[in-house]
Amino acid sequence: MELPKGLAGVVVDQTKVSSTKNAILTYAGYPIKELKNAPFEEVVFLLWHTRLPNADELKDFRKLLVSQMALPYETVQLMARIAREPQHPMSILRTTVSLLGTTNDVERDDPPRILAKMLTAIAAIIRIRNDKPIKHARKNWGVVENFIYLFSGKRPTAEQVSMFNTVMVLHADHEFNASTFTARVVASTKSDYYSCLTAAVCALKGPLHGGANEQVFKMLETIRETGQDPVQYVERRIASGQKIMGFGHRVYKDGDPRAAILREIARKIAHETGNDPYFVLQERIRDYMFKKTHLHPNVDYYTALIYHCFNLDRQTFTTMFAACRTAGWLAHIIEQQAEGCPIRPSSEYVGQTNRHYLADKEEN
Ligand code: ACO
Repeated sequence: MELPKGLAGVVVDQTKVSSTKNAILTYAGYPIKELKNAPFEEVVFLLWHTRLPNADELKDFRKLLVSQMALPYETVQLMARIAREPQHPMSILRTTVSLLGTTNDVERDDPPRILAKMLTAIAAIIRIRNDKPIKHARKNWGVVENFIYLFSGKRPTAEQVSMFNTVMVLHADHEFNASTFTARVVASTKSDYYSCLTAAVCALKGPLHGGANEQVFKMLETIRETGQDPVQYVERRIASGQKIMGFGHRVYKDGDPRAAILREIARKIAHETGNDPYFVLQERIRDYMFKKTHLHPNVDYYTALIYHCFNLDRQTFTTMFAACRTAGWLAHIIEQQAEGCPIRPSSEYVGQTNRHYLADKEEN
């Protein structure tokens, strides 16, 4: 029996949340190219309800999310202790999500409350790590404006909000990727939201998934700091059998549609913040990778530079991915929990057979 490695191409269930059919990413039927400038709150509503909200619903939904952004006092106290440890921010986030499941009302909590608290918790991790006081959401601002304020401590410009909104919309969901599938497996056992999200964070952390954005920037920094030629650097890594982070995709073999949009944002923000040299480096690596391997950049390649231009330290990049993807994780958890059947596939056993305990013990 020929088994597809990593379940590549295997359809494991149905979903109405999003699709990558024909390499076109759609949320509830709408192509992301058309949604890229839609307000993040509207896209979250779409993912959770598979329809667009009307104007009043959108206003109420935004108000609800922002009103729920405050964290319980005891969560902040506990976070202040763990977030200072010299651990990776994704490890801190993993523990924090689990913590939220004990300091909040697991039975009563619903997706809007959970998403709002996840955003504040992620921003708080960044603030605590930088020895900065935690900020509080402003009730008259939107979710994206608040989120940037909560992690940076500064009110963003309208242009920054617009750029970050697009980043959040493009990351909001992506069909059955590894972290979403992980969340769905846990949800299929009727476990609670926080348990599903904790599992999703664990899967996102790895460098072959969400952790790639941090590695992309590490590569760019190394090249710049050591003054190496980017093409020679990449060539050497490939020759030694290593992967170049931020390239390739399980689904998109002719290019990730999100990367094309993010490339333009990266070009613009890099120019505005004096980070052009990083963008130039990225372009050289991209050209070489295409010539040499026919691999295209994925969603993580350009967000690395965008997050850097928002003054985020590279270790926190994957927590940004988690902040955006929580919307999609929750949509899939809702959909999966409505099913009655736990996910429990089978495996093909390829180990030894016909062994006998006593006989083997005697022989030894
Ligand atoms: N650099 C160098 N070679 C690569 C890369 C890369 N980034 N990606 C794939 N390849 C090569 C593989 O080595 C393999 O070569 P081989 O056939 O000679 O063994 C071939 O291309 C096929 O690659 P697979 O890993 O089998 O492709 P798959 O579809 O399973 O993997 C994946 C997709 C995991 C994203 C892969 O491209 C990769 O590891 N990329 C780097 C990590 C990364 O950027 N991850 C983020 C993905 S997007 C996201 O999760 C949000």
